[in-house]
Amino acid sequence: MFFNKNDTKRYLLQLHHPLSCLPLLTSCLHSINGPLQKLNNGSSQILSFGSYMAHSVALATLGLTKPNQIQRPKILIAAREVDLLEWKGDILAVGVTEKDMARDPNSKFQNLILQKLDSKLGGLLSEASSEEDFSGKSGQSIVLRLPALGFKRIGLVGLGSVVSSTIAYRTLGETIAAAAKSAQASSVAVALASAEGLSVESKLSAASAMATGIVSGTFEDNRFKLEPKTPTLKSVEILGLGTGPEIEKKLKYSEVVSSGVIFVKELVNAPANVLTPGALAEEAKNIASLYSDVLTATILDVEQCKELKMGSFLGVAAAATNPSYFIHLCYKPSSGSVKTKLALLGKGITFDSGGYNLKIGANSSIELMKKDMAGAAVVFGAAKAIAQIKPAGVEVHFIVPACENMISGTGMRPGDILTASNGKRIEVTDTDAEGRLILADALVYASKLGVEKMVDLATLTGACITALGRSVAGIFTPSEDLAKEVLEAADVGGEKLWRMPLEESYWETMKSSIADMINAGSLDGDAITASLFMKQFVDEEVEWLHIDMGGPAWDYKKNIATGFGTTTMVEWVLKHSS
Ligand code: BES
Ligand code: MN
Ligand code: ZN
Repeated sequence: MFFNKNDTKRYLLQLHHPLSCLPLLTSCLHSINGPLQKLNNGSSQILSFGSYMAHSVALATLGLTKPNQIQRPKILIAAREVDLLEWKGDILAVGVTEKDMARDPNSKFQNLILQKLDSKLGGLLSEASSEEDFSGKSGQSIVLRLPALGFKRIGLVGLGSVVSSTIAYRTLGETIAAAAKSAQASSVAVALASAEGLSVESKLSAASAMATGIVSGTFEDNRFKLEPKTPTLKSVEILGLGTGPEIEKKLKYSEVVSSGVIFVKELVNAPANVLTPGALAEEAKNIASLYSDVLTATILDVEQCKELKMGSFLGVAAAATNPSYFIHLCYKPSSGSVKTKLALLGKGITFDSGGYNLKIGANSSIELMKKDMAGAAVVFGAAKAIAQIKPAGVEVHFIVPACENMISGTGMRPGDILTASNGKRIEVTDTDAEGRLILADALVYASKLGVEKMVDLATLTGACITALGRSVAGIFTPSEDLAKEVLEAADVGGEKLWRMPLEESYWETMKSSIADMINAGSLDGDAITASLFMKQFVDEEVEWLHIDMGGPAWDYKKNIATGFGTTTMVEWVLKHSS
């Protein structure tokens, strides 16, 4: 199948189901410009445009699990200049640093805002913060219920000692969201105790990071629960950080990016029986149809990938019953000339069983391997946000090879030799090193699009998690400039990336006795050898950077997706806008 913006015909995606006892389930891929339509078997299945994911292929998968179509009410975010004491609503939250909590010898607050609030509350704030040992540390908070005031509760939320960091403000927003949830609040206001001292620029980024934290903190993924609860929070007012078009624009931007992050979380959280490669392809097509003024979708099926000689991708895809797709969205500004062409690539393994090198053993976490498409999810989340922000002067290609890594009689065996689309031959020494195999053909494909720079995101190696832990992603690139660009974008986006060495001498360990290379050597430094492997498929003309994000893509405490990578990628693309 080949889809693009100009298609007027409609296509039917027939899903092959391994269990013949289930009724024949089909699902429609609606055309790019087409309206909602009925399934050809008579049952109607409407694509949801109100919620983040379309899910329309999901019905056709195992277990009859159909995600609830949740219409999430938008949280209204506004910037205001009102006296804190005049504000009316459910919770007034004040972000305080450890310094703001300093007291004078009479144990009165030195900070003017806290002083004012405290005297209005008859010393309640200073009393409670002493009693509860609240010192403004990051992660600390106190919420007090108040009688007979304009607001029902007041909260102090710790920012720690370092101000002006995106992460601190976003965490503040998340804490407020949690407080709003437990108090069932519908309206909150947030202010900073020492906003006065901040530059206009810092005020804007503080406001936007807090808004992002509140929106993403309020989101709960309950699509798979029988009785989903809807969050109570409806409005957020940001006080004392300025008003007017500039801050409004910034808040609108953070709203778009946070809805992109939520979309990413939904994609990653969705189990592999729901989020099949076909479902992922449909999500991509849905995004393209929503923003058809700037996006086009090209979706290649297995036959078309064969024509392009993508033997490395097809080798991994060979075992799966659910059909595989190579997905390509293209963003072009609707007017003006294009000065820079970029590509974002994402690993789209909707389930990684390991293949014949099956994930067995205590630490292999096979049950978590629905998240192996987190890179792909970020690519689509960024596409969705960029299509709304509409940066000028930049063309962006979003590329995702999507398949499952399964086991079957048609599957690739350890020892098989695959031929990638650039002609290079790969001896598959480990079927569980599949991410680099599918990305190999994606890198060849992207290299031919005339892009100057490309970034790939992948939950690629356990070795990177061993090296950097669960909160920090590794970046690998031969380009100093691109490393700098992406690290700066991550700083603005509030995400933790660390540059790792592309140690060329390790390539020695990836040589094959019979083919051009093996796909996995020893586990020592595997995050590096995996990167060196992918470098074999990058055109020398193109600057390339790889992000290994197996750790930070997942919140291991809450057992849910984080959406990691989205803000950084959107920032990086916007840097190239002219
Ligand atoms: N998807 C995994 C990597 C992974 C593991 C990400 C755990 C997040 C959490 C990848 O496909 C994989 O299996 N890598 C192997 C490579 C090895 C066989 C060379 C690994 O890291 O063990
Ligand atoms: Mn694997
Ligand atoms: Zn994998």
